[in-house]
Amino acid sequence: MALERTYIMIKPNAVAERHVGDIIARIERTGLSIERMELAVLTEEQAEANYAEHVEKPFFRELVDFITSGPVVKMVVSGESAIKKMRTLMGATNPIDAAPGTIRGDFGLDVAANVIHGSDSPEAAEREIALFFGEE
Ligand code: TYD
Ligand code: MG
Repeated sequence: MALERTYIMIKPNAVAERHVGDIIARIERTGLSIERMELAVLTEEQAEANYAEHVEKPFFRELVDFITSGPVVKMVVSGESAIKKMRTLMGATNPIDAAPGTIRGDFGLDVAANVIHGSDSPEAAEREIALFFGEE
């Protein structure tokens, strides 16, 4: 077990559908802590940088357009094994495969509008926190 920080982002569809409070309650129930939180509209540059690993994928342009389409809630969440705990709470990438009780399983519509982003490794977490909160 390790004390970790992870970058979490509630995507525009979930903000528009007013699921923010419910999602925050689920995060707090795990015992993890919200260290930073901000409502913002991402710039195209931030969106492209966050998803740089997917630049060659057919869904890349659609993903960038979607994630910049309205306000998101950006967060830094911390605690024991925060990265893995949040990925488990989020559920599988495609809501069709996400278990009931997970955030994507309960609120997800399709793979693009899958409600929430969470860092997938300590390296990604540090990069994403720096990108979105300007911290090292
Ligand atoms: P990915 O990193 O594979 O998933 P995760 O968010 O679980 O780490 O993909 C990044 C995002 O790209 C994903 O949250 C939604 C979007 N996406 C699509 O729009 N279509 C797809 O077929 C895939 C795999 C992802
Ligand atoms: Mg990913």
